[in-house]
Amino acid sequence: KKPVHIVWDADAAEKGGYEHFMLKEMYEQPKAIADTFSPRIKDGQIVIEELGMNDEEIRAVSKIVIVACGSAYHAGMTGKYVLEGMARIPVEVDLASEFRYRDPILAEGTLVIVVSQSGETADSLAALREAKKKGCKVLGIVNVVGSSIAREADKVMYTWAGPEISVATTKAYSAQLAAFYLLALRFAEAKKSISAEEYQELTDSLLKLPQQIEEILKDRGCIQRFANRYLAAEHIFFIGRGIDYAISLEGSLKLKEISYIHSEAYAAGELKHGTISLIEDGTLVVALATQEQLYPKMVSNIAEVKTRGAFVMALTNENNKDMEQTADYVIKVPKTNRFFANSLAIIPLQLFAYYVSLGR
Ligand code: BG6
Repeated sequence: KKPVHIVWDADAAEKGGYEHFMLKEMYEQPKAIADTFSPRIKDGQIVIEELGMNDEEIRAVSKIVIVACGSAYHAGMTGKYVLEGMARIPVEVDLASEFRYRDPILAEGTLVIVVSQSGETADSLAALREAKKKGCKVLGIVNVVGSSIAREADKVMYTWAGPEISVATTKAYSAQLAAFYLLALRFAEAKKSISAEEYQELTDSLLKLPQQIEEILKDRGCIQRFANRYLAAEHIFFIGRGIDYAISLEGSLKLKEISYIHSEAYAAGELKHGTISLIEDGTLVVALATQEQLYPKMVSNIAEVKTRGAFVMALTNENNKDMEQTADYVIKVPKTNRFFANSLAIIPLQLFAYYVSLGR
């Protein structure tokens, strides 16, 4: 056997004064993202050596299929919006437990991306094997070095989040988003689907994310106070459009996973097709509105749920000064490029889930 040196240190697996691993790991998110970026952003250029693909090979990819479970699947949903939006490449996202049993049609030129923190999730590993059996090239986005998915994928892009002890993922999810941003930018550059100025602006915005997350984490008191008002809630809904829908899914999963409050996430435009009847007087609806071009649509969705008596907590960016007139309670996150809004908006939602659970 050949010895391999794993760079994680033992302190990283200690609580280090935090009450729970989940809280500690939430606080480690700026570092997890910075560590995922730093080996791959050199002098303002995205370089993903481990991808092992030159511009021509990237241009030959006709479709991407992202396969994962749980929060990694939600990171993949954001990946779809970002890859399609920046690199103009069609992307499908599938749950690994569905993909592996449905005899998927994978045409030549399809790149399959398997996302996993542990690199050991049985369905994700089986999906990887299925994709390889069908002749596809598989890229793993994995956190645990040397795990099964990392070993069996053709190429592996590690997320450098360090050991994640909490089952409810936070920092590994954030690092997965970071990996998708890098991939999308690299693909967009090779396909020339964005201008040099856009590339520069997007890369600059990426590098600001760790600092912006620090700022949100500093302000956790207001989220804790708000969470304490909802300890007895029985149902909580999350709504959003576009990338905000992907954040809604993850915010809702985080909450139900650890607080055991029933929660659902809905694409805001779909709410009226059934679910809105479940919203009653005082039901908390968390409305995500970080996307400028969808903002007016979200304002009308908020008005819709308010007519049914919902109490609306809106999460938007600091530029949207008029949200106070629409929602009952507003949480603001710093402004970033629309493609990266997920990385900032998820932080208050993780804190909300944590404090509601702690209070209960
Ligand atoms: C679930 C966890 O069991 O597995 C989720 O509760 C996680 O938090 C999911 O996202 C997938 O795990 P992994 O290791 O493949 O990312």
